[in-house]
Amino acid sequence: MTTPIPAPIPKAELHVHIEGTLEPEHAFALAARNGIRLLRFRTPEDLRAAYVFDDLQTFLDLYYELMVVLRTEQDFEELADAYLARAAAQGVRYAEIFFDPQAHTARGVPIGTVMAGLGRALAAAPARHGVTARLIMCFLRDESAASALETFESARPWFGEPIIGVGLDSAELGNPPGKFREVFGLAQEAGLRRVAHAGEEAPPEYIWEALDVLGVERIDHGNSCLSDLRLVDRLVDEQVPLTVCPVSNVLLQNEDSLYEHPLPILLDAGLLVTVNSDDPAFFGGYVGDVFDAVRNEPELRVGLTELRRLAANSFKAAFLSDEERQAYLKEVKNYRFA
Ligand code: ADE
Ligand code: ZN
Repeated sequence: MTTPIPAPIPKAELHVHIEGTLEPEHAFALAARNGIRLLRFRTPEDLRAAYVFDDLQTFLDLYYELMVVLRTEQDFEELADAYLARAAAQGVRYAEIFFDPQAHTARGVPIGTVMAGLGRALAAAPARHGVTARLIMCFLRDESAASALETFESARPWFGEPIIGVGLDSAELGNPPGKFREVFGLAQEAGLRRVAHAGEEAPPEYIWEALDVLGVERIDHGNSCLSDLRLVDRLVDEQVPLTVCPVSNVLLQNEDSLYEHPLPILLDAGLLVTVNSDDPAFFGGYVGDVFDAVRNEPELRVGLTELRRLAANSFKAAFLSDEERQAYLKEVKNYRFA
């Protein structure tokens, strides 16, 4: 008789870039199908061996380079479907997925192609994988405010379903949130939710600006808040969620090591912390693997109580209706660790 593998704790994932879920083997298969040569790499193993990063920018260079293989609706559908299958196997019941339309339209792939492919995968996900997923459209902060505005207008047909919100990602330093005041104002008028990467590499001023100028409801990363206690007080008082990505932080050298990661300090401060994967195909693990990594690092003091708290926080921080949230929180409460 085989022992059944225990089901992982139910969780939401709120910080994952769909383009960051492109596994090397899939990239090579798409390249072959689309008649594209990945000139710098001969095999998926070659590519994976290049996944050593000095900082956010060295990662972004490879992340954008690899996107050349994504061309057709089917490519985007397969990409999202593969992520949803892996996430479901690790206990993800709900996901708010980032995507970077400008990284595709700049290469001549129309936004309609991206949306058709991602949209089909998301629509099939509840029945196929038992996961509900929605999209957050990110603006590349190292591109112009005008490009963000143009992208925003081009995506209007998909506002509400499947695009529920806007975000801000890519190279943080030198690209403060305030640059995108206008487009975030339009997003608010359009009834979209607002989030932004802030405090991943940059100082706490970027987090203040994301809150006060862009009106964001959640901060992606947010680690640097700890150097500004007034900011921590504000984030705690308002229970502004932080979508923290501990493994990403270490691999992009924003934190020295997993055992020195500030996760326990953030939790002890009373912040609404969630744990996420960021770019799992590049960082060697999906969100369940990140939960395992923090659980297995004694210095982080994540026991079963904290694991349940992190799982509950993921649903508290999600853009769900009250009814949806309560149903998921009940699943977390009733979950029994093996
Ligand atoms: N795009 C994909 N991953 C990112 C990250 N960790 N920070 C900023 N932009 C990103
Ligand atoms: Zn990110």
